[in-house]
Amino acid sequence: KSMLATKTLGRTIHYVDEIDSTQTLAHQFAEQGAEEGHLVIAERQTAGRGRMGRRWHSPKGKGIWMSLLLRPRVPLHFTPQLTLLAAVALCRAIRQTVKVEAGIKWPNDLLIDGKKISGILLETSAEDERLRYIVAGIGITANLEPEHFPEELRDVATSLRIESGQPVDREVLISSFLQQFEELYELYHEQGFAPIRLLWEALSVSLHRRIRCQKGGEYVEGYAESIDDSGALSVVLHSGERIKVYSGEVELR
Ligand code: BTN
Repeated sequence: KSMLATKTLGRTIHYVDEIDSTQTLAHQFAEQGAEEGHLVIAERQTAGRGRMGRRWHSPKGKGIWMSLLLRPRVPLHFTPQLTLLAAVALCRAIRQTVKVEAGIKWPNDLLIDGKKISGILLETSAEDERLRYIVAGIGITANLEPEHFPEELRDVATSLRIESGQPVDREVLISSFLQQFEELYELYHEQGFAPIRLLWEALSVSLHRRIRCQKGGEYVEGYAESIDDSGALSVVLHSGERIKVYSGEVELR
């Protein structure tokens, strides 16, 4: 069953049953000179990685755990833009193929009704401030059932299967994602971040509302106003002060 309409992304797929993390294998391929677009997919990860050093729960057979190798021709400090691009591509693919109202929580968590269904982790390799490559890790809870979620995740995470009431065809979703990504990636190389930013804003669930975030190690509350050209979140604090948030977690209030 081949329905891949992309030119480069996902043209080579490495499929494994079990691995510590698809990120690790994708980094190995990258170091061996693999071309842009190589994709690693695993049925199960024993040491899945999440953002901010967290662990990513990746049980067998039900989810989508994959890593995509990118070699963009952009400066290293542009990588946050690609993080947002990945979220837009995935959000569009999910809306199109699963027909559920997924939205993006800054920077790149996908939520349905406030519960997480996907996370994205970009890892870069650089030399002398020059970007060599990016491994974009994507985790989607696709077909997880309620019992697959550990107790502590039940209130904060859900799956596409649970939310749509139907099993998700993983191949269809993956190829739709690759296609969306490739289109946006071309647009990005031609026109820069501006059009991606507009698309991101339209799909965002964390803009124009009260949020809690971290500033210099302290929690602060404010109003999420916009994202800027670097992908940073611009927040107006209760005091009226405007701050920029470049990383970390944002809580919706
Ligand atoms: C997050 O929300 O914290 C990001 C989670 C990213 C998980 C994916 S699953 C495939 C790839 N391999 C990993 O070890 N992590 C990413």
